[in-house]
Amino acid sequence: MLRTRICELLGIEHPIVLGGMSTGTSPRLVVAVSEAGGLGVLGATRQSPDQLARDIEEIRRQTDRPFGLNLLLFLADEPRFAGLLAARPRVLSFAWAWPEQDLAGFFARTHAAGALVMHMVSTVPEATRAAEAGADIIVAQGTEGGGHVGLMGTLPLVPMVASAVAPIPVLAAGGVADGRGLAAALALGAEGVLLGTRFLATVEAPFPERYKQAIVESDGHDSLVTELPDIANGQVWPGAYVRVLRNRFIEQWLGREGELRRQRATVSAQLRQAFQEGDREHGAILAGQTAGLIDRVEPAGEVVRRISAEAERILRERLPALLA
Ligand SMILES: Cc1cc2nc3c(=O)[nH]c(=O)nc-3n(C[C@H](O)[C@H](O)[C@H](O)COP(=O)(O)O)c2cc1C
Repeated sequence: MLRTRICELLGIEHPIVLGGMSTGTSPRLVVAVSEAGGLGVLGATRQSPDQLARDIEEIRRQTDRPFGLNLLLFLADEPRFAGLLAARPRVLSFAWAWPEQDLAGFFARTHAAGALVMHMVSTVPEATRAAEAGADIIVAQGTEGGGHVGLMGTLPLVPMVASAVAPIPVLAAGGVADGRGLAAALALGAEGVLLGTRFLATVEAPFPERYKQAIVESDGHDSLVTELPDIANGQVWPGAYVRVLRNRFIEQWLGREGELRRQRATVSAQLRQAFQEGDREHGAILAGQTAGLIDRVEPAGEVVRRISAEAERILRERLPALLA
């Protein structure tokens, strides 16, 4: 059985973590991943406090396994953070802090509430900053990933971060969707993987069905890194770009950022409507290059078990045979 330090630390069976996607997770998906032996993480940045309390209660009703809550730090306010601490998850996972935010303060309060700190980074300096602030687990996210990403690729970023923050365990994110990716991440010095896009194309994901189909049909070559969705939504992220699938919305606005700023109220409303209606052409479909590795929508538990078993087979059979 494939076990790494992250399994011991988190109390899970497989070194596979669900990315805490604010627009792509739900209690149902979190429960499915945790029940399968991975770590389910709920995006906890955007719900109302009441909804968040109901979500957490629903998770606890359906599983007694560990789970995590994710907070986008640049959008964090005190009541929300205090609410997450009070919920006492196994893990609080953070991402995208402003340079002036007090990471050590966030992490110390998380520890005091009895939770582990997981922090996602897209550069080595951010990783060092998180390590110095007391993170227990660092997620190194490469630009291949879906949603908000930096510009470094996973292949160089993961070993650089692993060396920079050793012995703090590192999870590789961005570009992993199968057992080959998990085995590769372990070879790079990671203790496991964190997946977003693969879990969006699951039965349990609260993602529009037609967006799931877009991921299945994509060959991965049609994703691109842009700022168009953030310009339309009027949101400045600390150093992030967005990886999306190319569609009519993207074609219409690429190179016309000034005009998009002018029309942003209208376009932002269109994006929200497209998401609600599952309109693939006029919405922003946040998804990564692994779309090219995903050819069906399936239950999240099967994804967890298959990735782990496939990586184990590679480590047990294929790689040792290379030395024979
Ligand atoms: C739709 C979507 C929303 C996301 N929202 C968040 C978020 O709120 N917080 C976060 O830490 N990461 C978020 N991410 C990033 C994922 O947690 C993860 O790092 C990324 O998807 C990994 O790359 P992959 O898509 O290749 O698996 C999001 C990703 C997607 C696709």
